[in-house]
Amino acid sequence: MQFTGQDFSLKHPSKQLSGDTEIKASAPSNIALVKYWGKHGEQLPINPSISFTLNKSRTQTTALLTPLERPGGEVSFKFYFEGTHRPDFEPKIAAFFKKIKNYAPFVTDYQWKIYSNNSFPHSSGIASSASGFAALAKIIIKLEKQLYPQQTEKYYDKKVSFLARLGSGSAARSTAHPVMIWGHHPQIKNSSDLYAVVPDFELHPVFQNFRDSIVLVEKGQKKVSSTAGHKLMENHPFKDIRKRQAFDRILQMTEYLKTGDLKNFIKLTEAEALSLHALMMTSEPNYILMQPDTLKIIHLIREIRNNKKLPVCFTLDAGANVHVLYPGNIAKELKQTFFSKIPHDVIYDFV
Ligand code: PMV
Repeated sequence: MQFTGQDFSLKHPSKQLSGDTEIKASAPSNIALVKYWGKHGEQLPINPSISFTLNKSRTQTTALLTPLERPGGEVSFKFYFEGTHRPDFEPKIAAFFKKIKNYAPFVTDYQWKIYSNNSFPHSSGIASSASGFAALAKIIIKLEKQLYPQQTEKYYDKKVSFLARLGSGSAARSTAHPVMIWGHHPQIKNSSDLYAVVPDFELHPVFQNFRDSIVLVEKGQKKVSSTAGHKLMENHPFKDIRKRQAFDRILQMTEYLKTGDLKNFIKLTEAEALSLHALMMTSEPNYILMQPDTLKIIHLIREIRNNKKLPVCFTLDAGANVHVLYPGNIAKELKQTFFSKIPHDVIYDFV
């Protein structure tokens, strides 16, 4: 069953929670295997994407809600990250609250204090907007359930992803596990541009204890934001080719995940990472997010795979850090032969 944006819109409730209320939620990060790059309309993707859910790398969020006697037009809130007030994060959250007004009009009825913590080290500079917005969307749906309890679990599940998407596109894929697909594909049942879905196949055992360790080549803020990168896809000379490529690759990737075809999984995952960065390097204006050490690490991974016959590969998001993907049973060997030998910090538990 598919939902439309209309299904998720709500009239302002007559009911308001009476006293102060605390709502907690936690959401995982995710790593895309076939990437979302380029969007249109109200945060809709130009192509479908598929990701692994990183269940151990989570954002935990607590919201303290105080009912307002005279609610205003905008949401009144303060955002705290790892215990510190962070006004620099607030414009993105304010924009999110604005975008969800039709779908969650009740958010303006409260004064919000939002406290967020990440389970992965924040010194890494990896700020996960995906897990952050997914956790906030979960809190909003928990509130909606108290005000409008009549909907089905299916409805609430899809709406969490729908709302998270309006905060950050990839956040749509941070609401369930182990794999999520976001974006409509004619050959994928129930897939939608509006929210992500868990595909209707069992993940092959080979992928059930998979790891993602991040080699921190560069800490801190990205030089070009994803928002700017998505925008450059609007007039990109390879936009149509990329769209076709991603639609084909989603089907290939789902096949490999189903059948446990590790060899082709590795080939496709790396091809996707390089395609993403090739799009950045061929946009107008072009830009390069990879650093010399990004390439060094990539070459080392390929060397280890070829020389030691270990099923390890890399992927990249919109930055210089390298995500190293491998089955859990080679974790020890990789640590000894690879991670312990490179001069970079590594986040191992980004699983
Ligand atoms: O969700 P955003 O707007 O930060 O974009 C994420 C884009 C990539 O991480 C590069 C790819 C993806 O599908 O997650």
